[in-house]
Amino acid sequence: MDPVDLSQVTLKETGLDVTLADGSVAYFNYYWLRDNCATSFDMETRERVFDIFHEEQGPKPESAMVRDGALEVLWHGDCHRSVYSLDWLAMYSRGEKRHDPAALPRKAWFSDHYPKMARFSQPALKADPQLVARWAEALLVDGVAIVEDMPDTNEGLTETVRLLGHVRPTYWGEYFDVYTHIKPTNLAYTAKALEMHTDVPAEDLAPGVQFLHCRANSVQGGDNLFLDGVAVANEFKRLYPEDFKLLAETEIPFYSEHDDRDVRSRQRVIELDEFGEVSGLTISQHMADVFDLPQTVLDRYYPAFCRFGRMLKDPKFVMRFNIRAGECIVFDNHRIVHGRDAYVATSGERFLRGTYCDRGELRSTYRTLVSQRRFKSAA
Ligand SMILES: [Fe+2]
Repeated sequence: MDPVDLSQVTLKETGLDVTLADGSVAYFNYYWLRDNCATSFDMETRERVFDIFHEEQGPKPESAMVRDGALEVLWHGDCHRSVYSLDWLAMYSRGEKRHDPAALPRKAWFSDHYPKMARFSQPALKADPQLVARWAEALLVDGVAIVEDMPDTNEGLTETVRLLGHVRPTYWGEYFDVYTHIKPTNLAYTAKALEMHTDVPAEDLAPGVQFLHCRANSVQGGDNLFLDGVAVANEFKRLYPEDFKLLAETEIPFYSEHDDRDVRSRQRVIELDEFGEVSGLTISQHMADVFDLPQTVLDRYYPAFCRFGRMLKDPKFVMRFNIRAGECIVFDNHRIVHGRDAYVATSGERFLRGTYCDRGELRSTYRTLVSQRRFKSAA
């Protein structure tokens, strides 16, 4: 390549055409180029410090050329010089979203998943960030994993959460303890069966990752029931496409009301990601409010809702097991639906302590562990 080649750049009214390293010609807008000059970012704070709102006139180049594999632009007015490597420009040339290492394909699982579930030892996780990356990957791909060898302490749970993110409080507070209460404020606090649900749907954005640390479990019954909402919703879409559309597009109300709170939200039972793929569910009969939709809409919605609810009980999807003391099951609260069989309250002790962190923190931790990122070299 000629070290200076003016022929590789064509200045236009609102942007320029440049020939990239692979020979293709790509167009870049002048505002975008000026805003994303390398000098726009402070290497210490790693934040943008250039303020494009202060530009009275739209940015225009005085001249532009390609030199040594980079586009150089000299800007009109302040004569600021910007240099962009052609490789960097190529990443944005097609208007596609920036690659996200945490956007891993979800792998649907079924009732036989228990022996295949990813397992990690808590002391080993604390000692090895690469093991944390594998744990985070299992949570992104399968939506569930078990952490074993948990310390029998409250702090043990907190330090496990902190490996992925911060504790995310809900209206229950920072933690919840599941054992049989004398005056229960939630079905989980009784020995009755707990139908399949996702947690805290009444919040605007229910917490993303749930941690359930089993401290004692010697009761008769009380099997844990977990299923992959992605597996069920994908099957539902195949069998009942119209019902699937209704559940993916219609918002229904959820609530949690007691003397000191009145929490309400509207959620779609089936959650789709930006590509239209199923990314999760929000389901909870005990937190579903009176459906305040037009009654004629309910003529269609209720049969679809019930058909889906029945699929959530299909043994083909439900992984059945009994969590052991010293284990912490960690799962995507927007994807994995969980419940519990009834147990005999007087037959022994059952105590689980739970909390949450957010999905965004899980993804952030994973990215920092596995990818180079834009500013890593500045660290
Ligand atoms: Fe729950």
